[in-house]
Amino acid sequence: MSSFFTDDSAEAPAPALEGEASVPAQGAPPQASGSDASGNASASSAGRTHSVNLVVIDPDDVARNRLLTQLGTDVSSFPQIEDLLPYLNGEPVVLVLGPSCAIDGSLTGVERVLHAHREVGSILVAEELTTNLLQQALRAGVKDVLASPADDNQIHEAIDRVAAGLSKSPGTPESDDPLFEGDGELGQVVTVFSTKGGAGKSVIATNLGVCLAQRSDKPVVLIDADLQFGDIAVMLKLSPQHTIVDAVSSLDRLDASLMQSLLVTHESSGLLILPAPLEPAFADQIGATEMIQIVEVLRRFCSHVIIDTPAYFNDVVLGMIEISDEVLLIAGMDIPNIKNVKIGLQTLRLLNTPMEKLRLVLNRANSKVKLDVTEVERTLQMSADILVPSDIVVPQSVNRGVPVVQSSKRSGVAKAIEEMADLFCPEGASTKRSRR
Ligand SMILES: Nc1ncnc2c1ncn2[C@@H]1O[C@H](COP(=O)(O)OP(=O)(O)OP(=O)(O)O)[C@@H](O)[C@H]1O
Ligand SMILES: [Mg+2]
Repeated sequence: MSSFFTDDSAEAPAPALEGEASVPAQGAPPQASGSDASGNASASSAGRTHSVNLVVIDPDDVARNRLLTQLGTDVSSFPQIEDLLPYLNGEPVVLVLGPSCAIDGSLTGVERVLHAHREVGSILVAEELTTNLLQQALRAGVKDVLASPADDNQIHEAIDRVAAGLSKSPGTPESDDPLFEGDGELGQVVTVFSTKGGAGKSVIATNLGVCLAQRSDKPVVLIDADLQFGDIAVMLKLSPQHTIVDAVSSLDRLDASLMQSLLVTHESSGLLILPAPLEPAFADQIGATEMIQIVEVLRRFCSHVIIDTPAYFNDVVLGMIEISDEVLLIAGMDIPNIKNVKIGLQTLRLLNTPMEKLRLVLNRANSKVKLDVTEVERTLQMSADILVPSDIVVPQSVNRGVPVVQSSKRSGVAKAIEEMADLFCPEGASTKRSRR
């Protein structure tokens, strides 16, 4: 295979591609198609060198040349990612994908190449950073997304981060990762949210997670995204060694194996937990981008990723809602609860959240509370999917650290949770693993 990454290519240059003057040899300046105003396409503004092969991809000549100019010498370029394939020889390569690669559908080809070639890492420089684009890019395997025009330092630091990850695991095919189950199916992401504190989010998220873990034949994970005051670990009587903070600090090399080593197992159900930081102050270090990246790693080997949230909108919560397949909106059965949930619903509508992914759960829905379910549904203009009764077994189970679905299986609360789990994994739909 001819290679443009070895010195041989200096003697036997790779074939010139349409729109490319030539493919540069290692150490030679890039010959980009077209040139900038000074006629010098390879002028480097940063003049920084990297210990990894750098390739710019963008179908648009102007955008491609702009990135070439910014990145300096020793950089190759191609209009399409597929053009690069004949030159890959197992050496680590960092791709800098230009803005045209962010256009709908273009990331599909990128995903194919990145999944087939673990020695190739990439960053994307996009005109506009949206959560949707970020999500698509991360799903495609892109490691970082920067806004165009990217600052010199930012782009070089991003390249270095990706390169460091590549040199640590060169050429390891994703399917070699024992935790990557390889069926290609992404796990379902379910966020449990309410705009009212104490509505029952954590109780419901925990019990749903345990129930799904007992049913699913693949791992199920519960993320405590109540970053300041998360109490999932306490509710399940766990003493975590690691938390979300560890996952965030190893993001640039976070794969399924590393992720697995950071999760705590709830032994009696098999549920995996990514706990909230131990100190509220750590919450500031964690944003939506990091959380989305974590979810994308988890959903590659888990059948379900359940996310517990705080009782307010912040960028993490909005990011989680946006990438979720389903959102369980929890409302308690009292007037302040219903008022807050109504405001929450209005906010979600304003943010263009697809209403079809919202499911209303009425918690403590007993006749004794003097609030009629139909009245609540009319106020919220939404029908309730699940009614969870009020029961003393819930606080008792919280205090014992044993979920209701395990400690009081016959209670109305446990039955409601089982019904909720049917929405995501009907009982009998999959065979259990022998570990349980
Ligand atoms: N169906 C129920 N019956 C009786 N008690 C309940 C029920 N659901 C929740 N509770 C009680 O309400 C309290 C608050 O529940 P939980 O911690 O799940 O709320 P939350 O929405 O996560 O609160 P926060 O917004 O503070 O995170 C718990 O002590 C729990 O025991
Ligand atoms: Mg909570």
